[in-house]
Amino acid sequence: MAHDPAIGIHDLSFATTELVLPHTVLAAHNGTDIGKYHRGIGQRSMSVPAADEDIVTMGATAAAPVVARHGTDGIRTVILATESSVDQAKSAGVYVHSLLGLPSATRVVELKQACYGGTAALQFAIGLVRRDPAQRVLVVASDISKYELDSPGEATQGAAAVAMLVGADPALVRIEEPSGVFTADVMDFWRPNYRDTALVDGQESIGAYLLAVEGSWKDYTERGGRTLDEFAAFCYHQPFTRMAHKAHRHLLNHCGYDVDEDRITRDLALTTAYNNVIGNSYTASVYLALAALLDQADDLTGRAIGFLSYGSGSVAEFFAGGVVPGYREHLRTKAHREAIDRRRPVGHARYRELHGHSFPADGGDHRTPAETTGPYRLAALRGHQRVYESLQCRG
Ligand code: CAA
Repeated sequence: MAHDPAIGIHDLSFATTELVLPHTVLAAHNGTDIGKYHRGIGQRSMSVPAADEDIVTMGATAAAPVVARHGTDGIRTVILATESSVDQAKSAGVYVHSLLGLPSATRVVELKQACYGGTAALQFAIGLVRRDPAQRVLVVASDISKYELDSPGEATQGAAAVAMLVGADPALVRIEEPSGVFTADVMDFWRPNYRDTALVDGQESIGAYLLAVEGSWKDYTERGGRTLDEFAAFCYHQPFTRMAHKAHRHLLNHCGYDVDEDRITRDLALTTAYNNVIGNSYTASVYLALAALLDQADDLTGRAIGFLSYGSGSVAEFFAGGVVPGYREHLRTKAHREAIDRRRPVGHARYRELHGHSFPADGGDHRTPAETTGPYRLAALRGHQRVYESLQCRG
C-alpha cells in the first residue's frame, strides 16, 4: 500500500512595515518605566505601517519571493488569514493574487478567527494537499494590530505578514497528526465592524489564553500526541513575547513539571527574536516565532517543534512539526533580517497621526502619500475602491 506523503511548510517568507516605533520613544512620551516594556511584556519596538501600506501590500511583499523561487505551478489555492481585513465581502487574497500575477485558475478565500486564522489556513491547506499531493497552497497570514492610543494595549501593537507554501514532501517542516483543538466562547478581545481598534480585557485575555493552552494540550495528549520532553522548542502565539513565557510556564506546571527559568529559556529563547521587535502581528505571530527559531538555531534536523496557536474569542490548537533534513539550505535568514533592519524610525507625532488616519467614506478620489519603499503600495481609495500599485508600475 502506498504511504501518504509528508505534508507541511515548503517555504516561509515574511514582510513587515516601512516604519518602526521603539518602545523607548513610547515610554518617553507616556511616562512608563521602560523596564515594563522591555522586561514586563518583552517588547523593544513595534512595526508601524506607512500611509500606503496595509495587509495586502504586506501579504504580497511576503509572498512574492515564494512565487519567485517556486513559480506558480501547482498553486491552485490561496488562503489569506487576517483579522484586520480591508473589505467585508472581497477577500484581501484576491488583491494579493492580482499583485503577484497568479493564474486565473486559482481559488482564493479569506479566513478569520482572530489570531488563530493562520493556523486554520495551514491545516485546511494540508487537507487540500492530502486530497491531491500534486497541488500546493499559498497561505498568507497578514495583520496590523491596533489598540486605542494611550490604552494598555498600545504597547502591544505591531504588523507583519507571513507567506507559507504548503505542499507534499516539504523542504522545511512536516506538520504531524494529531492536533489538539479547543474552543470556548469568551469575550477577551474582539473588534466590532464599526471600530478600527480592538476592544480587550487584558487580564481576561491572558487567562483565556492559558485556559486554551490547557484545553488544546489535553485534546492533543488524548489523541496520542508526543510528550513534552520530545520537543526541541515551542512556538507560541506571541501577542507580546512574555506571553509565551507565561503560557509555557503554565503548560509545564499543568503537566506536573518543576519549572525553572532555564528550562523555559531553553524551550523558547530562539522563538522571540522577531516578535520582540515587530510586535503583535496576530495571525502571523506564531509563524514569525517559527521563522526566528529556524533562522537562529544551530541545527534542528529531525527534531520536533511544538506549536500553540491562540485566537481570542477563542480557538486554540496545539500541534507538532518535524524539521526536515536539509532545511537550512531553504531558509531566508538574510532577507528576514533585512526586512526588520530596513524599517525607518517614525517620530511619536507622526506615529499618532498615522494611527488616526482613515479614508473619508465619501467615494471620492483619495490618494495616499508615497511613503513605502517596498514593492507594493496602496496608491488611493477611488470611488470606494482600493487602488494598489506594484514597483514595476511605478517605474
Ligand atoms: N519593570 C519590569 N516589569 C514591570 C515593570 C517594570 N518597571 N512594571 C510592570 N512590569 C511588569 C508587570 O509586573 C507585569 O508582569 P506580569 O504579567 O508577569 O505580572 C507586566 O509588566 C505587565 O504589567 P501590567 O499587567 O501592569 O500591564 P498592563 O496593565 O499595562 O497590561 C497587557 C498588559 C494586559 C498585556 C496589555 O498590554 C494588553 O491589554 N494587551 C493586549 C491584549 C493581549 O495582548 N492579550 C494577550 C492574550 S490574548 C491574545 O494572545 C490574542 C491577541 O493577540 C490579542
